[in-house]
Amino acid sequence: MSKAFKSRRSILYVPADKPRALEKARGLDADCIILDLEDAVAPEAKALARTAACAAVGDFSPREVIVRINALSSPWGRKDLAAVKAARPDAIALPKLKDAEDVIAARALTDGIALWAMIETPRSVLNAAEIAGAGVAALVLGSNDLLKDMGARHMPDRVNLQAAMSLCVMAARAAGIAVLDGVHNDLNDMDALAVACRQARDFGFDGKTLIHPGQIALCNAAFTPSPEEIAAARRVVEAFAANPQAGVLMLEGRMVERLDLKIAVRTLSRAT
Ligand code: COA
Ligand code: MG
Repeated sequence: MSKAFKSRRSILYVPADKPRALEKARGLDADCIILDLEDAVAPEAKALARTAACAAVGDFSPREVIVRINALSSPWGRKDLAAVKAARPDAIALPKLKDAEDVIAARALTDGIALWAMIETPRSVLNAAEIAGAGVAALVLGSNDLLKDMGARHMPDRVNLQAAMSLCVMAARAAGIAVLDGVHNDLNDMDALAVACRQARDFGFDGKTLIHPGQIALCNAAFTPSPEEIAAARRVVEAFAANPQAGVLMLEGRMVERLDLKIAVRTLSRAT
């Protein structure tokens, strides 16, 4: 894909050893598909998943397809990388990173394929800026692994993840790359999913990683500007078009600055 702005609202993990899930994913409305060889796949199924993922890489066009390999330090990582590299997905997602050195080591082996960095260890959170600056195309918060390594517990409002969420967003924005929120594990509570998506959008994430087809529509809606947001953005654009010399304007009782014009233009670019 060569679009300047890639829509990455919904990013679905698909366990690569599950043929039914691979088949189903072809018809789903997720913006990106992550074929997973790592946490979703049991050790006995690693080889099968690798073969199936490589065979399926071309099946989801025009969506971006990412393959998440096992950590290069694991027994499967090197074999995953060799096979996946030949299949040429849009990107390879690297789990369990610690620092920029890990990214640089992977880059030396990946023939220029884009890399997505999982931020899911405490060290990677603290090193998020250097990882983002080491030549990856996206940061992906891996909140389940992170909570495990923090010794923390899942909290409904994710207050214990908010420092990591913000660090991911800051690091990604400083490097000019994409940033994607972690998964929502409760498949039954759609209200809670909506809150989590909205929170991610409010924090500045471009989209959210998902685990189930039933989460896609709600997530896409949460990361798409609403009709009200679009109308408000148009009014800001029109106000500055009518006052091209103005640095700051009053619009409907509220101050709007030139930076709001940039936000409005960005909103409109994401609306289509
Ligand atoms: N991608 C594509 N299809 C999926 C899917 C996924 N992530 N999760 C479920 N489906 C499919 C199922 O194959 C099933 O298809 P069918 O109706 O045509 O048979 C349908 O969606 C309904 O699935 P359901 O029965 O509700 O889910 P489940 O109980 O089989 O599985 C999970 C639940 C959580 C185990 C499963 O969704 C999953 O494996 N998700 C991904 C987990 C993952 O990748 N984790 C690592 C990253 S955190
Ligand atoms: Mg994980």
